[in-house]
Amino acid sequence: MDDNPIIESNISTRVLTPADAEAYRSVRLCALNEWPPAFGSLPKMEPNLAETAVRLAESEDRCFLGACQGKQLLGIIRLSRYKATNEKHRAYLAGLYVLPNFRRRGCGKALVGEALHRAAMTSGIRRVNLTVVTQQKNAIRLYQSFGFRIYGTEQETFVKDGQYYDEYLMTLELNAAP
Ligand SMILES: CC(C)(COP(=O)(O)OP(=O)(O)OC[C@H]1O[C@@H](n2cnc3c(N)ncnc32)[C@H](O)[C@@H]1OP(=O)(O)O)[C@@H](O)C(=O)NCCC(=O)NCCS
Repeated sequence: MDDNPIIESNISTRVLTPADAEAYRSVRLCALNEWPPAFGSLPKMEPNLAETAVRLAESEDRCFLGACQGKQLLGIIRLSRYKATNEKHRAYLAGLYVLPNFRRRGCGKALVGEALHRAAMTSGIRRVNLTVVTQQKNAIRLYQSFGFRIYGTEQETFVKDGQYYDEYLMTLELNAAP
């Protein structure tokens, strides 16, 4: 699919490839360092550059998208499809992050919009799920603006420095009547 230019803010989204490994890894490490509970992963667990390039290679069931301004990568998201035959009707979004200096310019909206567009254009996917730490109010508002609804809460998903964090489970039925 072609890139999806967002003319007014000069931001575009595109599928990331192994050639983006360094930029992707740098943004991803910012995410993990900014607020670790939001991503359920730790900087020291992040794959190295070579492993990141392998992850970014094209795959039938997963794609990494980036929001870019010119050559600069400003934000990232991952869309994955469940693999099992009896689960392939579902996909999930993960790893949404926009660099702090570039927030409130439409990057998050462009990334979620492009990921959902791709899910909707993929034959057989009818539902997209995600999880989000309950404190991430801005992200929750963003997801809700696309029609995601909260259908449950996972208690104490993550712990950091003795504090436990819950996650909302959110879901969006594609092509559902508004
Ligand atoms: C959540 C996040 C991705 C939003 O990115 P962004 O590029 O700033 O978002 P956008 O500019 O596209 O804003 C889209 C919508 O998100 C919501 N939103 C984003 N930031 C907000 C803020 N500071 N206050 C209120 N609403 C906010 C609004 O609904 C906004 O729509 P609006 O501009 O029409 O009001 C970004 O704040 C971020 O990376 N946060 C830290 C990581 C995180 O929470 N990731 C989610 C993990 S599941």
